[in-house]
Amino acid sequence: MSNVIKWNAMGTALKPQFKGKDFLALTDFNTDEIFYILKEAQELKSLQKQGKPHPYLSGKVLGMIFEKASTRTRVSFEVGMLQLGGHAIFLSPKDLQLGRGESISDTAKVLSRYIDCMMIRTFSHSTAEELAEHATIPVVNGLTDIHHPVQVMADLLTIQEHKGKLAGLKMCYLGDGNNNVTHSLIEGAAKVGMHISVASPPGYLPNGKITEKAIETGKLTGSKITITHNPVEAIKDADIVVTDVWTSMGLEAEAEKRLKDFAAYQVNAEICQHAKPDYIFLHCLPAHRGEEVTAEIIDGPHSVVFDEAENRLHAQKAILKLLLE
Ligand code: CP
Ligand code: NVA
Repeated sequence: MSNVIKWNAMGTALKPQFKGKDFLALTDFNTDEIFYILKEAQELKSLQKQGKPHPYLSGKVLGMIFEKASTRTRVSFEVGMLQLGGHAIFLSPKDLQLGRGESISDTAKVLSRYIDCMMIRTFSHSTAEELAEHATIPVVNGLTDIHHPVQVMADLLTIQEHKGKLAGLKMCYLGDGNNNVTHSLIEGAAKVGMHISVASPPGYLPNGKITEKAIETGKLTGSKITITHNPVEAIKDADIVVTDVWTSMGLEAEAEKRLKDFAAYQVNAEICQHAKPDYIFLHCLPAHRGEEVTAEIIDGPHSVVFDEAENRLHAQKAILKLLLE
């Protein structure tokens, strides 16, 4: 892996090869590739803002399997394909034979004969991996219980836009460490040389293997990964403050217990006094005001959550273009 700053300064680095790859987790990509996707996203965003057509995926079709609810992922992928000159098909397991017991492998093989790319939002990460193993077309992870990589590409784009850089910044995440968004943030931060401090209550720390691997990556990129139970320590001098829902999709039965367990990890005005004065606040949304974040913070001057939501569109268009073009 090469250093991110070195790559940026060179500017002439060879274009990484993305075509035909899957996009399941950020660990599948090196630092150069992540920065390349961000550059592509900026260019596509600029074209779209100027109203310039950019039909790079003319005639291409994305199939989207959703086993969980979605607002942003569904709409941004669908609109993204349209803006790229292609088409997206929403596939609900309720309507697919998958919902009546057809295997993932047969579904992967059949869909590969019709469409050019698949996106899946599902529960077990192994389902997305199985789909990718049997598909002959790229498979993109639109959220599993373990990873949410397309979200974090949008987050990195948003931070880059607001802070002008990624390497050397300090991100603080307060709340459920053992969730998809946190894992992808840890992996993403490690890749781009950003420090990340995660504060979670006992029993909700991030996956140990993901953390260990990120610490190893961080040794190469200069990223420091800190996992703690202490929210004040984690947020101290942070450039970026992030949280996510305390109860992720599929864990609704634990919601009441989680409200109590996470009470000391709310992002509110008091704790944010410990962040840098110019910190930005991110949340992948949907948010629960009064739980993981107060309205004062998410609707306040430090919040960039709607830029972040918009950047889902631009980041995912870049990913689709690079995997398919
Ligand atoms: N952040 C995110 O993935 O939102 P949706 O669940 O609405 O897709
Ligand atoms: N961690 C949340 C993210 C939602 C986009 C969940 O899995 O429900």
